[in-house]
Amino acid sequence: MRGTTRPMVRGTTGTMVRPTKPDARATGSVRRTGRPSLEAAGGAVLGIETSCDETAAAVVVDGVDIASSVVSSQVDLHTLYGGVVPEVASRAHLDLLVPLVTTALSEAEVEGRGLSGVAVTSGPGLAGALMVGVATAKALAVAWDVPFVAVNHLEAHLFAAGLDGADVPLPVVTVLASGGHTMLVVIEAPGRYRLLGQTLDDAAGEAFDKVARFLGLGYPGGPVVDRMAQEGDPRSVDFPRPLLHQGWDFSFSGLKSAVLRYTRLHPDAPTADVAASFQAAVVDVLVSKAVRAVRETGAAGICLAGGVAANSELRRRTTEACESMGVRALLPERAMCTDNAAMVAAAGWWRLAWDGPSSLETGAEPDLPLLTA
Ligand code: KG4
Ligand code: ZN
Repeated sequence: MRGTTRPMVRGTTGTMVRPTKPDARATGSVRRTGRPSLEAAGGAVLGIETSCDETAAAVVVDGVDIASSVVSSQVDLHTLYGGVVPEVASRAHLDLLVPLVTTALSEAEVEGRGLSGVAVTSGPGLAGALMVGVATAKALAVAWDVPFVAVNHLEAHLFAAGLDGADVPLPVVTVLASGGHTMLVVIEAPGRYRLLGQTLDDAAGEAFDKVARFLGLGYPGGPVVDRMAQEGDPRSVDFPRPLLHQGWDFSFSGLKSAVLRYTRLHPDAPTADVAASFQAAVVDVLVSKAVRAVRETGAAGICLAGGVAANSELRRRTTEACESMGVRALLPERAMCTDNAAMVAAAGWWRLAWDGPSSLETGAEPDLPLLTA
C-alpha cells in the first residue's frame, strides 16, 4: 500500500492519501508513542517470512520502497515428497534465515541497529516454520535494541500491491488466493478489511497443487499448470464453475474431483487441454465474483494478492474485466504475489506506525485469522 512517512487512509479523491488527522484509534494510546521514532529513523524495516516453504528477508523503507528482498525457495527439498513436509521446512528455515537476513541488510546498506523495526510473520502458517522466524526476529530486535512487530501473513499479502510506490485506489476489491486461503476482501483502508467471502473447502492454490499432482506435473502445481495451460485449449473440457453465481464464498474441492474423474475416464486426453480447462474454471469463478463485488460495492478496482495472483490467465482476465468496467487492475509483480518478506516489512511498517511494537511474548499463531470488520 502506498505510503510516505505515515500510514495512508482513504481521502476524498478515493486514493490513498496522508491522513490530515488521526482516526479514533490513533488517539490516546500509549503504544502510539512508537511512531515518532519510526519516522526519525527513516523507516527502514527488516521483514522476515518463514510461514511455509519460502525463507525470505527484505528491507523496505517508509513502508513502500524495497531496498532489498531475498527469497530462498525450498521447492527442491519438498519436491522429493510431492508437497511441503513441515519438519523439513522448519529445519531448512533454521539453516537459511540468518544468512538471508545478512544478505538483505548488506544489499540495503543498513545495519541492524539502524533499523526502525524487525517485522515477522507470526501466523497463519506451519507452527514449527513460524517459530523459527518469530524467535529469530525477537532475538535480532532485542540484540539491536529496535522494535519488534508481529505481522499477519494474510494482511502482508494485502500490502504487496502498494510496494514500490504503486498507487492503490480505495476501496478496492481484493482476491487473496494462496495455497491455504481464498478470500474476497474489500480493503477500505489499511487495517480495515471487509470479508465478503472465502473458500468453504480447498483453497485455489491447493486445487492447483492437487490437480498438478493428478496430472503428474509435480509440485508446486500452480506455476506448472499455468505454463502447461498456455499450450492447451481452455474450452476442451467443460469443468464445473462451483458457486459461480451464488453468494461470495468459493468451493474448489468439487472442481478438483471433477478433474480427477475426467482424467481417470480419459487417460489419453491431452494434459495441456485438461490443465487449461481446469485453470479456466478457477479463473472464471475468481474473476466473476470480483467483478460482481466491484459492481455492488462501487470499488475503484480489483487487486490480486497471494501466490495464485501470479497466474497468467487470472492476470489477463482481471485486466480485461477492469478495462471493460473502467476501474483499476492492481497486479503486484509476480515475485511479490508469492511469499516474500518485502510485503511483511511493508505491513510491519504500517502496524508499527499505527499500533506500535508487539509484545516480546508474541508467539507463532498457526491459525491466526485476518481481522475483518
Ligand atoms: O502465497 P503463496 O506463495 O503461499 C501461501 O501463503 O500459501 O501461495 C502459494 C500457492 C501455491 O498453491 C502455488 O501453487 C500457487 O500459489 N501459485 C500459483 C502460481 N504460482 C503460485 N497458482 C496458479 N498459477 C501460478 N502461476
Ligand atoms: Zn502466502
